[in-house]
Amino acid sequence: PRQFFVGGNFKMNPASLEQKRSLVKVLNDAEIDSATEVVVAPPSLYLLPLKESLRKEIQVAAQNCYCKVSGAFTGEISPAQLADAGVPYVILGHSERRTLFHETSELVALKTKAALEGHLKVILCVGETLEEREAGKTADVVNSQLRAVVSALKESDWSNIVIAYEPVWAIGTGKVATSAQAQEAHADIRAFLKEAVSPAVSESTRIIYGGSVTAANCKELSTRPDVDGFLVGGASLKPEFIDIINAKK
Ligand code: 13P
Repeated sequence: PRQFFVGGNFKMNPASLEQKRSLVKVLNDAEIDSATEVVVAPPSLYLLPLKESLRKEIQVAAQNCYCKVSGAFTGEISPAQLADAGVPYVILGHSERRTLFHETSELVALKTKAALEGHLKVILCVGETLEEREAGKTADVVNSQLRAVVSALKESDWSNIVIAYEPVWAIGTGKVATSAQAQEAHADIRAFLKEAVSPAVSESTRIIYGGSVTAANCKELSTRPDVDGFLVGGASLKPEFIDIINAKK
């Protein structure tokens, strides 16, 4: 069985140290399902303070990293630096990185390989735009995003990857995928992994859903057999994040 996974992607939030403190308090005081793996991804400035102040059951993730160990790469953080600081996870390939910062699937693959070599675990994001969905290209787009990564990795690398299916049209829009849409996309990803990597990797890899997940819609989504958790944006900054962590409880 795959362990349920809930990630909070804070993006470029919260806006102040004071708000960060109140978020930590909410997370530390709540009752959370010990069967669920919980990871929060704050801006890099807050990674170490959050790692120190959060209860030990909640891990932290970086929102990005570069594909080199060190050197003249102004503005970047390396996997080695994150690992050395005790940060276990990094989110890679988020649609905002792909769109706003022009990251190609090839760059995402290089970063994923570098992160795994640097002993980080990776939350790898994939997903189609509305236009691509309407053109019936969802599986093609997602498979090609994944194929770039598959080519760069060995089979054993997959034990340290969580795939986040995040349809671009659902991110920050309030338009959540229906549980049937999420299940279909997740099952397609699992079928792709079976063919492109191996049946064992397809069976064991967690595939989580992201895009306008809330306390109100998480339970229904979580009942689907191929939905192994969530990557939550906006709602991870609110007390309702606790209800999403506890979706399976
Ligand atoms: P929202 O939950 O705000 O739609 O964001 C989803 C997301 O991008 C998580 O990475």
